[in-house]
Amino acid sequence: MGITDLRGLIKELETRKQVVRITDEVFPEPDVTRFVKAALDDPDNGPALIFENIKGYKGQKLVFNTLASWKNWATAFDVDTSTSVYDKYKIMEERWPECAKGEVEFVDAADAPCQECVIEGDDINMYDLPMFRSNTGDGGFFIGKPAIVTVDPDAPDDLNMTNVGMYRIQIMEKDTTGLQIMFDHDGANHLRKWEARGENMPIAFCVGAPPAVSSLACIPLDYNQSEFNYAAGLQGEPLKLVKASNGIPVPAYAEYVFEGEVLCGVREPEGPYGEFPGTYSGVRNQCIIKIKRITHRKDPLFEGMYLGDCHCEGNCMSNLITCISNTEAIRERTPEVVAVNAMVAHGMVLIISAKMKFGNFAKIVAYNAASSSAGIGHGKFIIVVDPWVDPFDYEMVLTKMSFRVRPDKDITIIPYDVGMGLDPCNDPVGVCGRVFIDATTPVAPDHMRDVQQIEIDYAEQASVLKRLLAEIR
Ligand SMILES: Cc1cc2nc3c(=O)[nH]c(=O)nc-3n(C[C@H](O)[C@H](O)[C@H](O)COP(=O)(O)O)c2cc1C
Repeated sequence: MGITDLRGLIKELETRKQVVRITDEVFPEPDVTRFVKAALDDPDNGPALIFENIKGYKGQKLVFNTLASWKNWATAFDVDTSTSVYDKYKIMEERWPECAKGEVEFVDAADAPCQECVIEGDDINMYDLPMFRSNTGDGGFFIGKPAIVTVDPDAPDDLNMTNVGMYRIQIMEKDTTGLQIMFDHDGANHLRKWEARGENMPIAFCVGAPPAVSSLACIPLDYNQSEFNYAAGLQGEPLKLVKASNGIPVPAYAEYVFEGEVLCGVREPEGPYGEFPGTYSGVRNQCIIKIKRITHRKDPLFEGMYLGDCHCEGNCMSNLITCISNTEAIRERTPEVVAVNAMVAHGMVLIISAKMKFGNFAKIVAYNAASSSAGIGHGKFIIVVDPWVDPFDYEMVLTKMSFRVRPDKDITIIPYDVGMGLDPCNDPVGVCGRVFIDATTPVAPDHMRDVQQIEIDYAEQASVLKRLLAEIR
């Protein structure tokens, strides 16, 4: 049986001794962040944390790091934990076409655990939630792991046109939040359409979403691809959805659902917030959400995420699947692409292995990647390597850069391109150059000094060695 909600994942992680419950009283600041960071120090095996005794928030539970280590990620999505990253990539790549066909099922509100408890009107108070500043320079309280659902006003019931994204939420008032949504994201497309009509945009965001939904929320799928279907495919079970009272479909097994509206044309200062580049985002005008209704499960788990100058949950939660969707996007026009590593900083560095059709074809691959959904706002460094190079093997990639890159020929700088707004190198925000690095072996009409590539076919011996090792271990 696949894992279909946060509680199911925690239960499974507990059987694998991957959950630490912190029952002693902790201060929200600075204790929680410090524990979370300590767990993030182990990207391979770091545990999930559940804080059960938070000063000022009696009776509430705060959950972190459920998908922050490879062991937790592999548990959630049923992947062998002992495999290399490239092997995990290959497994996910094989599963991806099936993921697209994942099934969703709508249930009635009465059968949706996320609607067991309802908070409305004057009772809405976002400050009742276990909130705190993750980093001391944050400009307030943020929800770091929300799965945000919006619909296209021209096709509000079409799940393919519905979007699930992860965009940070800042608490502004008891029923008001900020929403940072980058211009290149599908959620921003929806917002433009609603605002063009002069209407507020209905929105719902979940906290403690099913793990596959949290993961898909961060994947740059095409506009007409459904995160919900892919999430269902990824979890290997139909995904149960329910309509929120404003008509937005949400996962029925989310811990919390916040329903509201993004106010048409309103922008107010939001931030600063400690972000994944290891720097604060600064303060910028962002959208405003009016919260109209909160629903949650009984005894709800509030899920947070830490971002800062360290390994962050997104690295495991979404980066590997981002590699798969990026591969699909880049292959569309250059089928010669073998694999794409978008693991570094959510695809700020793209390492692409590809077959070379003719001399300098690596540049075609890089231009294509930059203009695909993988590269818009990402792909600041695009490195192309030969098809036999494992793009996840950094030692090998750097070796190829050492011995295949002619600095005067193989490095292309694209000035003043589309950048990622949180990158502190952007100036102005959203504008940054790019670098293409061709680390492939030149083919005609390009040429290299007359050298011969060393090649050894050792597949048979590798399998014999594997067998002999298995016999002695
Ligand atoms: C932990 C985390 C936090 C993120 N926060 C934001 C954010 O605040 N604003 C934003 O626009 N994108 C943010 N992103 C990136 C988007 O979620 C991601 O690019 C996603 O693919 C966007 O989906 P969309 O293109 O379907 O809208 C975040 C990603 C992660 C992993």
